[in-house]
Amino acid sequence: MNRHDGHSWRNRGFRRSIAALAGLTAGAFLVGFVWLPSVHGDFTAGGLWDSICRAAGAPASWSSGADGIRAGPPSTDVILERSMADLRSSTGSVGRGATLALNCTMCHGVQGASISNAPNLAGQYPEVVIKQLLDYKSGQRRSAIMQALTANLSDRDIRDLAAYYAYLPKARTAPTTYDESLPALVRVGAPLRNIAPCISCHGGVDQKLGAPWIEGMPREYLVEQLQAFRAGTRRNDAEAQMRNMARPMTDAEIEEVAAFYARKAAVAEGQ
Ligand code: HEC
Ligand code: HEC
Repeated sequence: MNRHDGHSWRNRGFRRSIAALAGLTAGAFLVGFVWLPSVHGDFTAGGLWDSICRAAGAPASWSSGADGIRAGPPSTDVILERSMADLRSSTGSVGRGATLALNCTMCHGVQGASISNAPNLAGQYPEVVIKQLLDYKSGQRRSAIMQALTANLSDRDIRDLAAYYAYLPKARTAPTTYDESLPALVRVGAPLRNIAPCISCHGGVDQKLGAPWIEGMPREYLVEQLQAFRAGTRRNDAEAQMRNMARPMTDAEIEEVAAFYARKAAVAEGQ
């Protein structure tokens, strides 16, 4: 036992100051975590722990435990491989793919060029068609129609469909180049908001494995997909790469880039 400590505890002033400090702490705790949060509309009995986490700056998904993480489907199980993209040059299964694709023409068009708001498939990169069909099949990309249509497709069916669509000439479209006037997001992105230039992944100047060909897609489809990435209702993009870029985009920006990429669809319809 330390003599000095003994002295301090015998000192009334010291004991009082400790008591006062404890009282203040308890009071501040009640005000900060119970009284102030209880005035908020969303206060619940379970809200005390939440408000402690919120006060500490912890993300909501931590304070609500595993529930926050379990909400919604996982991102994707598909691992992209270069060999999927090589289907472009192998024509072996194109005939079989064409037969299977008779079930798809109603919405995706006879030559893969959609006449409705469904996406074009003609000339789509094969690894994209494979990945998206597998994601629909596993439910990681949600669409009542496409989930039902992919439920019974085998891996071979999916590869043959991808080979067939890759073999068709790209519909109504030529690659975007730096020679035309481009929306800022397409040309340079918005570095301060972590938006990379669309042109660096979506074809034209460069294509990243798995990034779809979006030139000439229906405008409504592009708007819907960007809004779904922004809201997190479409979450099958690996590493959240599209969700992270769509999140800071404004409605006006979504309309602008969608109209830009759809411009050739509009031209074709006008013909
Ligand atoms: C009844 C209409 C309909 C039919 C039939 C249909 N699709 Fe679709 N397809 C859609 C719609 C609508 C979407 C977009 C859904 C969404 O929002 O995710 C879509 C999306 C897709 C995509 C994703 C494209 C992209 O760019 O991300 C692929 C690939 C696809 N369909 C392939 C097929 C194949 C292969 C068949 C035939 C086996 C088929 N579809 C039959 C309506 C249809
Ligand atoms: C870092 C590369 C990258 C950049 C930059 C990028 N994207 Fe994407 N984008 C992707 C990938 C990869 C996917 C496919 C995600 C998946 O696997 O479902 C995608 C999907 C999309 C889709 C859905 C298309 C479809 O048919 O399913 C749209 C629309 C889209 N991006 C628009 C944009 C726009 C507009 C920009 C510029 C503001 C942009 N992207 C920038 C990589 C990128």
